[in-house]
Amino acid sequence: MGFPGFPFRLIFLVLLVAAAATLPSEARGGRRRYPWDPIIRWPSDHPQKEEDDGTRWAVLVAGSNGFGNYRHQADVCHAYQILKKGGVKDENIVVFMYDDIAMNDLNPRKGVLINHPNGEDVYAGVPKDYTGEQVTAENFYAVILGDKSALKGGSGKVVDSKPGDRIFIYYSDHGGPGVLGMPNMPYLYGKDFIDVLKKKHTSGTYKEMVIYIEACESGSVFEGLMPDNLNIYVTTASNAEESSWGTYCPGMDPPPPPEYITCLGDLYSIAWMEDSETHNLKRETIEQQYDQVKERTSNYNTYNAGSHVMEYGNTSFKWEKLYLYQGFDPATENLPPNGIEVKERMDVVNQRDADVLFLWERYKKMEDGTKAKAEFLKVITETMLHREHLDGSVDIIGLALFGPDKGPSILKTVRRRGLPLADDWDCLKSTVRLFEAHCGSLTQYGMKHMRAFANICNSGVPLSRIEEACMAACGGRDIAKWSPLNRGYSA
Ligand SMILES: *[C@@H]1O[C@H](CO)[C@@H](O)[C@H](O)[C@H]1NC(C)=O
Repeated sequence: MGFPGFPFRLIFLVLLVAAAATLPSEARGGRRRYPWDPIIRWPSDHPQKEEDDGTRWAVLVAGSNGFGNYRHQADVCHAYQILKKGGVKDENIVVFMYDDIAMNDLNPRKGVLINHPNGEDVYAGVPKDYTGEQVTAENFYAVILGDKSALKGGSGKVVDSKPGDRIFIYYSDHGGPGVLGMPNMPYLYGKDFIDVLKKKHTSGTYKEMVIYIEACESGSVFEGLMPDNLNIYVTTASNAEESSWGTYCPGMDPPPPPEYITCLGDLYSIAWMEDSETHNLKRETIEQQYDQVKERTSNYNTYNAGSHVMEYGNTSFKWEKLYLYQGFDPATENLPPNGIEVKERMDVVNQRDADVLFLWERYKKMEDGTKAKAEFLKVITETMLHREHLDGSVDIIGLALFGPDKGPSILKTVRRRGLPLADDWDCLKSTVRLFEAHCGSLTQYGMKHMRAFANICNSGVPLSRIEEACMAACGGRDIAKWSPLNRGYSA
């Protein structure tokens, strides 16, 4: 707020109140435009004029696959519909989604995706720029950088932005300390992502960028890494050390329609999208949305099943209006700038347990006494056993490297705010590969152990000793089904 402008705005306010008092009540609702409309502003409006001459770009990424992860692709398709209604052009929206959900055998409504229990289809019309094996971290980076030559497959659409343009990135999936999931290996690592953003900034091809990230521990991708001088504002669903949450899940409140055995959405994601849909984005600021989403994602300050929405990067342009990034739907003209009235606690499930919930729901729905049902129970048991194996192996590695007294606490240490997860990300990646070679794939669930691997590296243990410890923990174990050779290494 510029100090010299202050008294003038006060006078305007007085004039405005006086003018409004003489108008019929219908006009005070703000439905008609009056000659003074563009000149007089509410004190809450920023005095500076927002430039809106650039192009809006968006990159939307669902980082998972499999019907148990229905919600991430539903989130991303929903985001597309909001931007589309807002007038953002298809040629400027790049979508990454595996696209194995809409036509999945388990989908009760073929060809339809919903992101709310009473929601309408969000799948229709979504551009399939990068699907299946094209959904990779490498293609995501190439798209952001506008580097067509680095693309592998896909529509070839990239963010071909100019200096005055604005870019919106939205990502939804599982994550872990320092990483975001991808349906194809390897995962996205915080350090690599920030390097891509720095490179984009150096190329001078955007004015400002807003990034929304839904994933467990998503704060850790930016913590201590994200500079404030890139003209990028980031919010994440969770801080560096907590889960993010799926919602609209079977057996919970509010539940999906009874035929669904999977969650329909994620708490932070539906919070920003349901906020955007119900407000006039020419009047709502980025900051107002952040405040609203933060409150809702905390499950209204209970945090017992909710997470801490975080901000990173440059927080000094969040007074800008949201339509600069998400577009403006004329149908929302008369909606207020902010304020969701419903403040009900939502039932949610930890992202990592959502998989198990899905497997169990699917099992319950299968026909009793069939071979398929018995086989499926085996799958569930194997999945749970592999989880235990991963947890146990990481514990043993900690004991082997640091001894029984210090091991557990070193692995779990959370660094103070402002420090990155790892000092040496190459060491982190090498450790992940060594672990997977000896102990089997981390899988979506095992991403949670990234902090243990990072802490081992931060303690300065050489890779040769890390490998010995992995062998001690997992040597001689048959990891066939979980071999990283099947789907690739996570790093
Ligand atoms: C943050 O953004 C504002 C508004 O665009 C800009 O004036 C300021 O220089 C930026 N801060 C940094 C550290 O780059």
